[in-house]
Amino acid sequence: MIPASDTVPGAPALRIRDLRKTYDNGVQALKGVSLDVLPGDFYALLGPNGAGKSTLIGIVSSLVNKTAGEVSLFGVDLHAQRAAAMRLMGLVPQELNFNFFEKPLDILVNYAGFYGIPRNEALVRAEEELKRALLWDKARTMARTLSGGMKRRLMIARAMMTRPRLLILDEPTAGVDIEIRRGMWQTLKEINAAGTTIILTTHYLEEAESLCRNLAIIDHGVIVEQGPMRALLAKLDVEGFLFDIDGELPQELPQIEGATLHVTDEHTLDLDMPRAMDLNRVFAAFEAAGIRVRSMRTKSNRLEELFVRLTGNGAQQAA
Ligand SMILES: Nc1ncnc2c1ncn2[C@@H]1O[C@H](COP(=O)(O)OP(=O)(O)OP(=O)(O)O)[C@@H](O)[C@H]1O
Ligand SMILES: [Mg+2]
Repeated sequence: MIPASDTVPGAPALRIRDLRKTYDNGVQALKGVSLDVLPGDFYALLGPNGAGKSTLIGIVSSLVNKTAGEVSLFGVDLHAQRAAAMRLMGLVPQELNFNFFEKPLDILVNYAGFYGIPRNEALVRAEEELKRALLWDKARTMARTLSGGMKRRLMIARAMMTRPRLLILDEPTAGVDIEIRRGMWQTLKEINAAGTTIILTTHYLEEAESLCRNLAIIDHGVIVEQGPMRALLAKLDVEGFLFDIDGELPQELPQIEGATLHVTDEHTLDLDMPRAMDLNRVFAAFEAAGIRVRSMRTKSNRLEELFVRLTGNGAQQAA
């Protein structure tokens, strides 16, 4: 454990100022990113492919050299006191990177040894972490034989061996099915409830919505929105509906002032309208155009809407 005196009481778990990264090939992956993640927070970093999320995490975990900017963890400057800062964090990279021919218990204990944790202490911690990850009964089984979800939980258990105050996960649930994802959310919630600050990147907006209290949306190396999840969702003044249409659609869709209407497929219309708008106007316009609505539903994921709007990925979706 790092001496408490090295950290600054009250400092953010992660503080980033004007962080820039230009790769050797000239790609500007980060163009001046600033953010604060407070101790105890559960924070999401969202963004489309190539936004710069992994670059940011790479810099924070010292795997990637920054071009410019400041990063500190709990007040410990990453540049000036790299080793001390690194001891405060644990990283769960996107790719599985443990030895499949070792046993979970050995994977955890060896990892701890690498960080100078005595074997006796490592054994105690490993039991604790494997139990939390619901892997204790697999402690002495070849890791290769674990299911995909178990392997992911093992990655988290391993990162927790050093008792990090900040746990960073780069797309921890990418490609795993919803049931496994939900199980992992439970594990992460428990870790967060026990006091560890968590930052994760994800493509699953629903994941951010159900886990995180604060978030930043990053696009093309720039933060386009950040703040409390609730405040961002409340900001949404647009409501979306999907209409299931009976019969044929007219050649030309009705124009409804203030709203945008798209054809999703031959039986479905997609409408975005201001929250305050009267839905009767929509029905009147549909009726005048001979469109018969069989049923309607709200578009479910509001964060998705916000994300699409902010990152300009909406054009593709509507097309
Ligand atoms: N080692 C590298 N060398 C050159 N360019 C890179 C390197 N790593 C990333 N980039 C570029 O930097 C930009 C940001 O990439 P990054 O991996 O940080 O995005 P990301 O948000 O993690 O994307 P994804 O969601 O696909 O994982 C991209 O344009 C990418 O091609
Ligand atoms: Mg990435």
